[in-house]
Amino acid sequence: MASNHHYRRPHQPLTSPSTTYLYIFLSIITLTALFLYSSHHFTSSTTPITIKPINQHISGQINDNEASAAVCDYSEGKWFYDPTVRSGRYDETCKEIYKGWNCIAGNRSGAKEILKWRWQPNHCALPQFDPIRFLQSHRDISIGFVGDSLNRNMFVSLFCSLRRVTDEVKKWRPAGADRGFTFLKYNLTIAYHRTNLLARYGRWSGNANGGELESLGYKEGYRVDVDIPDGTWAEAPSFHDILIYNTGHWWWAPSKFDPVNSPMLFYENGQPLIPPLSPEVGLDVVLKHMISYVEEKARPGTVLFFRTQSPRHFEGGDWDQGGSCARLQPLSPHEVEEFFSVQNNGTNVETRLVNEHLYEAIKGSAFRLLDITRMSEFRADAHPSLAGGKKHDDCMHWCLPGITDTWNDLFIQHLSSIKIR
Ligand SMILES: *[C@@H]1O[C@H](CO)[C@@H](O)[C@H](O)[C@H]1NC(C)=O
Ligand SMILES: *[C@@H]1O[C@H](CO)[C@@H](O)[C@H](O)[C@H]1NC(C)=O
Ligand SMILES: *[C@@H]1O[C@H](CO)[C@@H](O)[C@H](O)[C@H]1NC(C)=O
Repeated sequence: MASNHHYRRPHQPLTSPSTTYLYIFLSIITLTALFLYSSHHFTSSTTPITIKPINQHISGQINDNEASAAVCDYSEGKWFYDPTVRSGRYDETCKEIYKGWNCIAGNRSGAKEILKWRWQPNHCALPQFDPIRFLQSHRDISIGFVGDSLNRNMFVSLFCSLRRVTDEVKKWRPAGADRGFTFLKYNLTIAYHRTNLLARYGRWSGNANGGELESLGYKEGYRVDVDIPDGTWAEAPSFHDILIYNTGHWWWAPSKFDPVNSPMLFYENGQPLIPPLSPEVGLDVVLKHMISYVEEKARPGTVLFFRTQSPRHFEGGDWDQGGSCARLQPLSPHEVEEFFSVQNNGTNVETRLVNEHLYEAIKGSAFRLLDITRMSEFRADAHPSLAGGKKHDDCMHWCLPGITDTWNDLFIQHLSSIKIR
């Protein structure tokens, strides 16, 4: 692929666009002259059609370089192959990488190729974040990742990127957190709070003396308290300066919350919600409660992000039906639609459905969206698959190093335009 040239252009802002512009301008003049000269049937309408897209392209490039970060849509763009990339920003020796995600050590084919693709937004650049500069500019700050294992994947990526440049690290586990670390020289803390649904949930069994749910025929299930945050993160908004939330995968996990044998049973104010809610409606109610909870609990100035849904890429069946993800290259835009369009109702359809709920829930709230979905939809090649000797292909989590490194670039790019405390 001749994309090296393409990818580098945004990094040479001061010289190349004007040179390119001059070159294209002269080419157009020459071509137009030739065309005028040779054609007896020239009509003026052909000229604007030829020139317009080229002009737009060039002005887009110039705008990027004038740093219009605040208005840039980083979610629309393309992955470019850059064969000059030799390695990731950290390697397979980073100890926080869970074995099943360590694609290089686990011999996943193409594990190093994954790192050679770079995300290029359509109208601006998304640079790789500089870990030293990040540490220096975030002294005495605490960052909490709150969510399921996909947020842990992103947390590990950030940890490994920072650990690579500073080795004075102390484990620190704030209230409820699954794991956390302080980079001592900078007093920057990052922590991961594990929670699948954000709301608290637990096993539920029908009472022999009966009850509202029992009378509807429910015997077993999971009680989900829509208005009570999971204990693992309930305190987190009161001490982190920056929080990144996610939820989604467990809401569409029929193996755990089987709609017949172990359904989610929603409670509010300690009472079952009757009639029982479907998981989709339950998600809306939980998001509403959890978002207001965080807004009330967080100190003024806390920066709140909600990360959009991470796409899965099972092909030929779901995870428990022999589905796999053996691709060695990103999907084409056409394939992305085949995988993810809601109309297609394919194996991985929940990605965009979850986002529809999220967009609705955070409207008018204090949360900013961290939109990683679109860029990740292309990356069917970047999952661990069978790395590390698994029974089923893992087409849900991401190889590390890998694309959650780019999610962190996006996160840090957003942070750089926000004043923290
Ligand atoms: C990966 O390959 C290397 C060299 O072939 C081998 O030593 C190692 O055991 C393999 N690791 C896994 C997890 O299969
Ligand atoms: C370290 O950072 C935390 C915030 O994460 C802050 O509360 C604490 O005072 C800082 N410690 C020092 C010694 O500055
Ligand atoms: C989508 O597909 C699933 C099975 O793959 C099916 O159960 C469901 O009814 C379908 N939904 C729609 C809206 O077609």
